[in-house]
Amino acid sequence: MCGIIGILGKSDAVSLMVTALKRLEYRGYDSAGIATVTDGVLGCRRAVGKLVELEATLATAPLQGKAGIGHTRWATHGAPTTANAHPHIAGPVAVVHNGIIENFRPLRDELRAAGAKFTSETDTEVVAQLCAANIAAGMTPQQAVDATLKRLEGAFALAFLFAGHDNLMIAARRGSPLAIGHGDGEMFIGSDALALAPMTNRVTYLEEGDWAVVTRDGAKIYDALGNLANRELRVVNVDSVMIDKGTHRHFMAKEIHEQPSVLAFALSHYLNANRTAVVVPEGDLDFSQFNRIVMVACGTAFYACHVAKYWFEQHARIPVEIDVASEFRYREPPISPRDLVIFVSQSGETADTLAALRYVKDKAGLVVAVINAPESSIAREADLALPIKAGVEVSVASSKAFTCQLAVFAALSILAARQCGKIEASAETALIQKLTQLPRLINEALAQEPAMALIARDLAKARDILFLGRGTMFPLALEGALKLKELSYIHAEGYASGELKHGPIALIDESVPVICFAPVDPLFDKTVSNMQEVMARGGKVLLVTDAEGAERASDGVWKTLILPKIDPFLAPVIYAIPAQMLAYHTAIEKGTDVDQPRNLAKSVTVE
Ligand code: F6R
Repeated sequence: MCGIIGILGKSDAVSLMVTALKRLEYRGYDSAGIATVTDGVLGCRRAVGKLVELEATLATAPLQGKAGIGHTRWATHGAPTTANAHPHIAGPVAVVHNGIIENFRPLRDELRAAGAKFTSETDTEVVAQLCAANIAAGMTPQQAVDATLKRLEGAFALAFLFAGHDNLMIAARRGSPLAIGHGDGEMFIGSDALALAPMTNRVTYLEEGDWAVVTRDGAKIYDALGNLANRELRVVNVDSVMIDKGTHRHFMAKEIHEQPSVLAFALSHYLNANRTAVVVPEGDLDFSQFNRIVMVACGTAFYACHVAKYWFEQHARIPVEIDVASEFRYREPPISPRDLVIFVSQSGETADTLAALRYVKDKAGLVVAVINAPESSIAREADLALPIKAGVEVSVASSKAFTCQLAVFAALSILAARQCGKIEASAETALIQKLTQLPRLINEALAQEPAMALIARDLAKARDILFLGRGTMFPLALEGALKLKELSYIHAEGYASGELKHGPIALIDESVPVICFAPVDPLFDKTVSNMQEVMARGGKVLLVTDAEGAERASDGVWKTLILPKIDPFLAPVIYAIPAQMLAYHTAIEKGTDVDQPRNLAKSVTVE
């Protein structure tokens, strides 16, 4: 992952770079750094930890400059130390890098043999050293970068700055996103348009293999073969107002509470004005043309696919296959023109998901992206990009993006049912009517926050926690466990309720809370039987259900959490609220960093 910024400005670039890096912190926050060139001389400041640490460093040791590059790091090669922080400088070259240089070891050996002295454990430093060696051999910066890029293997985005050149940056993209921003006598480089938004909304996205020579007069872009390339300049619609937490303590809390409104927004996008039919404003999407749907994603987005599988199969009777993106393409699955392949990603930049998309691109009948970031790589490379309209999600752990993904898939499953002739008009209207109740029901579920916060006090004392669910509650159990793990660092696992007796039940004792997601639905009694099996072995059960479920099955349980009564179709959206809230409040009890949990990043742009 990592975030990159570059500025050739008219005034102080350092504070602008810090502002932009704050917008990129979602890509990693192990360390940050900035290099400038002033009167031909390179200067650099780096600090371990989040941006505030770099700001503190800059306060005690200020750095000036109208031209500079900056970086926020998610560590891959080498621990989060100052020496491993970017920018890396070798001779007259400063480099920031996102991605992985796969052949860095042989390159490092070669450079060492030629006398280069390495000061970090990173793969990135070979780029700076190689480029510096090329300049020492008499090449211009442009020739040196060109020659360097030809030696690199892997997926990366790079930005270079050079001593002796106050009006030059070079940027390169191979696998990782990079955008060039156009100002008035100023130019910028950024990992995304969001980072560039305080400076400009006029953006050119580099395409795969492109590299760009940037001066204050503009950018010359070369394609992978070294030919001058003409890339579109777009005016992007990115909110340039600094994103803030509002009245909330954390972005996560704000984003959880935003769900009724963003979900209503998402639904209004996919429903006609009378709210009688599902529509796709972005283009033609006819599910009846396909024999099969294949859905691919990572993490929370994958669990949204898992829920969607139930919906598409039940409503439209189309077989659905789901897979995590990191496994998908290496399986080399057969894909045919009768397959509709759907990629789901909040960021639209997840490397595994993007690579999987490229694998199916020439094989599938239609490639659809369901994304939150409309200008992202996945959105741009799909045949059809469908927005989830969740708004910017800052907290590393996904919340509102998940429920908006579910809302979009709920709507699409109704559309698919109609197109495949599996639903009567009256039943379709009834399902849509249920969909429109979701924002109100989420509000009702959110009203249970005090009860969830109280339960979290006890969960925080546990070392292991299990989540159980049947049907669409199974993916919710997986999502609940993922949220709890990543936010509170408590070990948690999600299981299909019926699977427990095939092994995991051995884990049950009085110290392991077992959270059962069990709305009253046709599977309720079966889930309750599995719950009884847990209690018979001394396990303490938190039953998450509705009022009727509590009435029928609360006897002997440790705690009960009551949610609004909901049609089983839409229960996953409502049960996402306790999955998020229990994790959030347990994290607060544990004192962990809710918005930026350790070792994680919001956008995972490495494989
Ligand atoms: C968990 C979480 C991650 C992401 C995953 C995919 O809370 O946020 O599991 O869901 O990294 O990210 P996107 O959706 O950006 O492709």
